[in-house]
Amino acid sequence: MEHAPATGRTRALRRLLVNGEPVDVPVAPHETLLEVLREGLGLTGTKHGCELGECGACAVLVDGVPVLACLTLAVELAEHQRVDTIEGLADGARLHPLQEAFAALGGLQCGYCTPGMLMTAKALLAREPRPTAAQVREALAGNLCRCTGYGPIVEAVLAAAPHVAGPAPLGAPAAAEARP
Ligand code: FES
Ligand code: FES
Repeated sequence: MEHAPATGRTRALRRLLVNGEPVDVPVAPHETLLEVLREGLGLTGTKHGCELGECGACAVLVDGVPVLACLTLAVELAEHQRVDTIEGLADGARLHPLQEAFAALGGLQCGYCTPGMLMTAKALLAREPRPTAAQVREALAGNLCRCTGYGPIVEAVLAAAPHVAGPAPLGAPAAAEARP
């Protein structure tokens, strides 16, 4: 596919794999991934908060790694790069275990921080399937919440972990024992 170069006022067509679907999206050189997701693709689940890289509300996964979409220029993404947003977290009508746990344990109130929290927590559980509370707090340190006091969020991630990871291998310590 031919792509126009991204110059001052023009937009280059960039093909991304967003939530598993290939999409062609026009990208101007100055546009952030946050703008492209929200305004270009209508994926408004990703929130804009500070737009300074300080609140984590805009966190999405690029190739499985949390990035701040407000600080990422869309043109920096490679062709066919994988981007996962909150819209792709549930499996159809079935909520992801993290979503279930956040709802059940009070891990959200106003919900503004929640998409970024959930995507960051998803990446944590992918690399650390049975995290301790300290590891959850460390992973979510860049995601600010004004409402919950963080305790229910940490509990929700810990509660969701076994449902994401599946049964523990024989001899592995129970999650509660592993917590500091
Ligand atoms: S909106 Fe991106 S870190 Fe706050
Ligand atoms: S639930 Fe309101 S900011 Fe976190």
